[in-house]
Amino acid sequence: MCGIVGYVGEREALPIILKSLKRIEYRGYDSCGILVQDKGKIHVYKSVESIDYLEANISESEYDGKIGIGHTRWATHGAPSKKNAHPHLDGKGEIAVVHNGIIENYQSIKEGLLSNCVFKSETDTEVIPHLIHQTLGKFDQQTFKKSLIKNAAQIKEAVKDALSCLKGSYAIIVAVDGFDGLVAARKESPLVIGVGDRENFIASDVPALLEQTNRIIFLDEGDIAVVKKDSIYIENSGSEVKREERLIEWTIEDAEKGGYEHFMLKEIHEEPRAIIDTLRGYLAEDEINFGVDFKIDTKGKSILMVACGTSYYAALCGKYIIEHQAKVPVQVELASEFNYSDFVLDGMNVVVMAITQSGETADTLMALKKAERYGCKTVAITNVLGSSATRIADKTIYMSAGPEIGVAATKSFVAQLVIFYLLGLFLSKMPASEFVEHLDELKRMPQVAQMVLDEADVNIQNHAGYLSRYEHVFFVGRGVNLPIALEGALKLKEISYIHAEGYAAGELKHGPFALLTEDTPVIAILTSDNTYEKTLGNVKEIKARGSPVIAIAEEDDEEVEKYVDAVIRVPVTSAIFSPIPNIVALHLLAYRTAKERGCEIDKPRNLAKSVTVE
Ligand code: F6R
Repeated sequence: MCGIVGYVGEREALPIILKSLKRIEYRGYDSCGILVQDKGKIHVYKSVESIDYLEANISESEYDGKIGIGHTRWATHGAPSKKNAHPHLDGKGEIAVVHNGIIENYQSIKEGLLSNCVFKSETDTEVIPHLIHQTLGKFDQQTFKKSLIKNAAQIKEAVKDALSCLKGSYAIIVAVDGFDGLVAARKESPLVIGVGDRENFIASDVPALLEQTNRIIFLDEGDIAVVKKDSIYIENSGSEVKREERLIEWTIEDAEKGGYEHFMLKEIHEEPRAIIDTLRGYLAEDEINFGVDFKIDTKGKSILMVACGTSYYAALCGKYIIEHQAKVPVQVELASEFNYSDFVLDGMNVVVMAITQSGETADTLMALKKAERYGCKTVAITNVLGSSATRIADKTIYMSAGPEIGVAATKSFVAQLVIFYLLGLFLSKMPASEFVEHLDELKRMPQVAQMVLDEADVNIQNHAGYLSRYEHVFFVGRGVNLPIALEGALKLKEISYIHAEGYAAGELKHGPFALLTEDTPVIAILTSDNTYEKTLGNVKEIKARGSPVIAIAEEDDEEVEKYVDAVIRVPVTSAIFSPIPNIVALHLLAYRTAKERGCEIDKPRNLAKSVTVE
């Protein structure tokens, strides 16, 4: 949940570490810290403010050094505070560690192996430098100190020794006073190495490094690496391993705001592009191709999707899409519930699909592992190349949404829907003419999304001004647009802090009606399908209770205006494709409302981009 970076080379480390940290500040921003190593001296600076604040309070002349590590924190153990900010050091202040993940057994290590150590923080991480120190202490200190530079092997062994005591997940970078390199290791947390010219970089996320290099090595589960300015040594299970260097084509501009005020707005505007790119990945000359080894024998099989948050709502939408197009039964489970349920997988003829933008969500990874234990075929649907989900699943389908920096998922949701349309058609046995109709409409979706951005936004802005004055809002929809109502509500609540609830339109009368007053606006998705009349009936019931209603309705719907207070118009599509224009409109509505309320849109309070703890 935190972001970590490291640098070793011939340039000053401090500005590079600061820049890299800023790129991944979205991973956690309750405190940050940097260490720079300079000819036998370690300098540490920490802050509970932003990285900008940290930068403004370090004078570059204060330290120079060609090796550095940095951390931006999302607290799990120990409150956000300066003493809990990373890096954490051993008792002598010679070994420093930045860490992303959770050490589950840190308390028993403190009380057992390290019972004679003095700890300065409440974090789980602090046991790591102490454990490394203990092992290094076993080596002959005099020889060790004299030839520290040559002692990469001993330092690596000491790190390995320390890691062997740990239960939990970690991506760590270790700096040792006087050592001319860094040691990095990963278990169930992402970690990459950026390759440079007489310099190398380490980070938890690729965007941290793009300003410096696009030559990236993805470390694998259990890898430990010794990174020096002109060498990278990687080991796994005691033997040296070679990991492929990949060229990442995301430009820095891709990962930056591109002139928009917030990443979220930029990413909403990238929704048409995300659709085009995702289609391009698997659609050529009207043929859908997920790769040679991707076959789902749908006969007698069903699909089980596991996911969290926005990805869960995308999966719910996927259920409607795939069942409609392919007539294959789809079940959707929240990963966090699935992991501890008695869900019967034994003997089930089921393909398990994990839907995860980041590919790093701990609950979703656990669910994938559970499916694997039961011998199910597994598929990861993710946006992040080389992410943990891709390593666990038998097969990966990448959505091509590009880097998503805003904490609130937007374009990745749309890209997930596109994958479901492609999957639905891929698995379908519909007549050729119907297939072509669906495919043609799917190919029209980038324009449809663009029309919402171009034509509906001004109107949405007015409604956002109105909505921003309320504290409770309901979103209602039916069928394939029920998950869209749920996602619309999630987006509004997470970035505007308005209490928002998504509901099946027909369910309000079974309880929530008690909450309806003139102070609880309702956003109603009214798509012209077989649910239209019923939803309109629900809208009338809502109006009768005094709640203002804003409808999301198609351009040619002349009926709706008579019954609601305002309408946000979206282009006409067939019902199964209506989630695309509807969600673009609701993403904009959430963004504009949060902006009206002056909220920190890209970094909503208490949230982080990828949730790597259960
Ligand atoms: C909400 C949001 C989260 C994520 C959830 C799962 O806007 O972004 O609810 O959808 O944390 O993340 P992934 O898709 O990375 O597994």
